[in-house]
Amino acid sequence: MKKILVTGGLGYIGSHTVVELQKSDFQVIIVDNLSNSSIDVLEGITNISKTPPRFERLDLRLKADVSDFFKRNKDIEGIIHFAASKAVGESVENPLLYYENNLNTLIYLLQECNAYGINNFIFSSSCTVYGEPDSLPITEDAQIKIATSPYGNTKQISEEILKDTCSVSELMAIALRYFNPIGAHETAEIGELPAGVPQNLVPFITQTAAGVRKELSIFGTDYPTEDGSCIRDYIHVVDLARAHVVALQRLLSKNTPAVDNHNYEVFNLGTGRGSSVLEVVNSFEKTTGQKLNYKKVGRRVGDVISVYADTKKANEILGWKTEKTMEEALLSAWKWEQKVRGID
Ligand code: NAD
Ligand code: UD1
Repeated sequence: MKKILVTGGLGYIGSHTVVELQKSDFQVIIVDNLSNSSIDVLEGITNISKTPPRFERLDLRLKADVSDFFKRNKDIEGIIHFAASKAVGESVENPLLYYENNLNTLIYLLQECNAYGINNFIFSSSCTVYGEPDSLPITEDAQIKIATSPYGNTKQISEEILKDTCSVSELMAIALRYFNPIGAHETAEIGELPAGVPQNLVPFITQTAAGVRKELSIFGTDYPTEDGSCIRDYIHVVDLARAHVVALQRLLSKNTPAVDNHNYEVFNLGTGRGSSVLEVVNSFEKTTGQKLNYKKVGRRVGDVISVYADTKKANEILGWKTEKTMEEALLSAWKWEQKVRGID
């Protein structure tokens, strides 16, 4: 069994990926500092897979601790690096926290990869690197725009760090640019647990339906789109998780990223379909039978109008495509919210 390190493996996307890795017979070791997750997630993962993953509480900002961890775990064959801070607004208020947490941790990990000959690395990037696109759907070679937040900038810089490192070492890396992950595991054992007031649409919807929030604000209905609200590519988190397994298998099989790319590849992970905010709201009401209390308000600063993925590269090269529907994603998110709130 190949041993894979999953950083941030108790977080939202990491926990779903751990389950998929275990399903594919990988031995998983999770490190997480619990800054945005709970130790209870381990139990959720174990309830699904019946196999407790190994876990170590580790803050990847502490270089000496990271070195010590690798000294004790020389047999790691691949790394999936989720650990990062991800709140766009917070990154504007506290940029140094974001540059430290999202860049230093990556650098320390890559230094250990170099020291121990760990050559397979998968990185969580984001469609935020594209900014407001010039044309849709967005392909991987679309122009990278100046980042609109320190968070977005850390993803752009991280991609550069990876590319530069791959070009001068044996490292093979894949950066996965996620569009908008939503939903939860069908068992409702794991899901998204945002700290404080949710910034993202679907957790806000489910918390409103559960009565935790009074009403949902629809940010902008005067955009140049069919119904006036913004368009995004919402992808089920389990589909997203599966893509990490396929990407890892690609690296491990030495089906290496093209040599002219210096062992570095980038893939969009989305459904290829754009949905408006109002469509998501309507779909949630229809699928769950829950009436949502919402109001239309002004635009949110920094929002792009419309963004969705061209998924051809991931479909053809990774042989991966999404399988789950928006309805399944919303239903699973609602089931998870009900469980968290103790609603029958
Ligand atoms: P999350 O916050 O749920 O998970 C991240 C995990 O990393 C958390 O468990 C947190 O405790 C841990 N962590 C943070 N800093 C750490 C550190 N210094 N040392 C150890 N552990 C640390 O976030 P997520 O939604 O699962 O996102 C995972 C990755 O995907 C992140 O890199 C994020 O930027 C990226 N991403 C997320 C989205 C999204 O919408 N969720 C979209 C695009 C990209
Ligand atoms: C945001 C981040 C992006 C990050 C992504 C995934 C910004 C500017 N971008 O993207 O960097 O990669 O999350 O974590 O924050 N909406 C409402 N009401 C709400 C919440 C959201 O109408 O209460 C709308 C938004 O205006 C947007 C859509 O829903 O049109 C999706 O919003 P959100 O879930 O925050 O994701 P993004 O803005 O796409």
